[in-house]
Amino acid sequence: MCGIVGYIGSRQACDIVINGLKRLEYRGYDSAGIAICNGEKTEIFKCAGRVRDLEEMVMGKNVSGTMAMGHTRWATHGEPNEINAHPQVSYRGHFIVVHNGIIENYARIKSHLESRDVKFTSQTDTEVLANLMEHLYLEGDLSAEQAIIMALNKVEGTYGIAVYCRDEPGKMFAARQGSPLVIGVGEGENFIASDATPIVEYTQRVIYLNDDDLAVISKDEMVLKAIKNKSVEPEVKKVDLKIGEIDKEGYPHFMLKEIFEQPRAIHDTFRGRVLPNQAGLMLGGLHKVFDTMAASDRILIVACGTSWHAGLVGEYILEEYCRIPVEVEYASEFRYRDPIIKKGDIVLAISQSGETADTLAAVKLAKERGALVLGICNVVGSSISRETNAGVFTHAGPEIGVASTKAFTTQVVTLAMIAFEIGYRKGLLDETHYRSLIGELVALPEKVEKALKVNDQALALAKIYKDSTNALYLGRGLLYPVALEGALKLKEISYIHAEGYPAAEMKHGPIALIDEHMPVVVVATKENSYEKIVSNIQEVKARKGKIIAVVTEGDQIISKMADYVMEVPETITVFAPVLAVIPLQLFSYHIAVLRGCNVDQPRNLAKSVTVE
Ligand code: AGP
Repeated sequence: MCGIVGYIGSRQACDIVINGLKRLEYRGYDSAGIAICNGEKTEIFKCAGRVRDLEEMVMGKNVSGTMAMGHTRWATHGEPNEINAHPQVSYRGHFIVVHNGIIENYARIKSHLESRDVKFTSQTDTEVLANLMEHLYLEGDLSAEQAIIMALNKVEGTYGIAVYCRDEPGKMFAARQGSPLVIGVGEGENFIASDATPIVEYTQRVIYLNDDDLAVISKDEMVLKAIKNKSVEPEVKKVDLKIGEIDKEGYPHFMLKEIFEQPRAIHDTFRGRVLPNQAGLMLGGLHKVFDTMAASDRILIVACGTSWHAGLVGEYILEEYCRIPVEVEYASEFRYRDPIIKKGDIVLAISQSGETADTLAAVKLAKERGALVLGICNVVGSSISRETNAGVFTHAGPEIGVASTKAFTTQVVTLAMIAFEIGYRKGLLDETHYRSLIGELVALPEKVEKALKVNDQALALAKIYKDSTNALYLGRGLLYPVALEGALKLKEISYIHAEGYPAAEMKHGPIALIDEHMPVVVVATKENSYEKIVSNIQEVKARKGKIIAVVTEGDQIISKMADYVMEVPETITVFAPVLAVIPLQLFSYHIAVLRGCNVDQPRNLAKSVTVE
């Protein structure tokens, strides 16, 4: 997903913006660019490559300027090359634009402008937006702000943009419609960014732009307007992000850091929410809706990717403890199938970034249809967290690696806490049982710490299987979503095709794939489907399949059948996915590293898919 960083103040802007773009690299991109303005002159550098390539382009050019805007582009319209990289400049050079999102009616606007002899150089929708501003600015004899507002009223689609007008130096414009933008409020300097990570080392005071906001920013002032021209009061928040949280802190990759952070992340998920020696959890964001949830007769979970896998685990957990029917859907399917939402339905959106376009659209649709819409997000101030009626933050800390790890485990823990509280309020859980569940929850971080000790075994197995071309992951019950998650991890960072399957389903087709070359990873901790998965393992072995089993420590049956075993501590079933996923995260991580893949920014992937 694209990234924007802007600076206006008294310091040299170039390094601030370049370093800010580096903090956004985790979002995934394929080209980068920067415009540096020093009053009368603007210099633009762009490359189809990494931010460090852009930095080398600028280095030694002795470029100065106290205002700059930079961009990392994840190509949507037009291939990733220098011409299509941002910033895009309007045909007479008055407007410089960086843009996240998609202008859906760009083709119609482009042909209209071409009929007025406006020339284009790139294939991007962003250049269309810049040229539309220019055209209105020149034709209508408007101010830059008026031209920008008028142009934004004509476009359809999504945007998060920063704009500079050559005739109005010392000013930057930022506008948002569906693609997040944050303003950092400093002392005598201001920042624009796609999220808070490039800003936190300079200021903790941020303003999250809302849809339809236009910010007019100078070094000492930030005026917030609406594109529909009603006045808007800025709401300055304090961002609770520390610079250390967005550094690798000695790890070779963010993904490995985030895997090993899981004990702390899970602790932070329940910290301050567990009432010591009491049966009860303080989930303040849901406090006012818990009784409504307890009375509901259907919960619909909508999510994408790893969050969808966590939702599948949530289905088992919520039905187990709350006896409420749960359906889990891909948000991208839910939003287009004209879903039937009845009064009393709960729609629960799960999203680490809180910006996934399909999940956000599903949330908006569910609200329109009258559902009570709740969210489980990790990023405070994110669009989904602000769109839902209520919700819970996982407090996992920033997840920078594109492949989600601590997002999954903290989402499962959050779902369990919700289920416990509802089950208790419905009288399905007595105090003693509730307390014992909370005891297991509080003990979980230490068990995760122990599970991480399989790291060396995971590395040894990665060395054996790093050249595989396929892999099959099997699980049953609430370990089936763990099999899906393990397969997703492997394919998205090592590019090995991997498939997760319910173990019993294997005989309905996938067993035809089994041979001695394909690793079969079986997630088989000691849960109520343990005996059944033993027979599935026998079916695989009968066809010369090689078994890598994730088992509960001390396992005496499967560990003797499998070719390779990774043990995790025993816990109650509801938390088994949290422990069982860890060997799979490490296995895929080490394979990707051994294959020389870009673990934190896998090819073609973005950390948060804010385009449809
Ligand atoms: C998972 O490793 C991927 N990064 C991806 O599937 C991700 O889970 C999905 O895009 C959903 O993101 P979200 O949780 O931020 O909504």
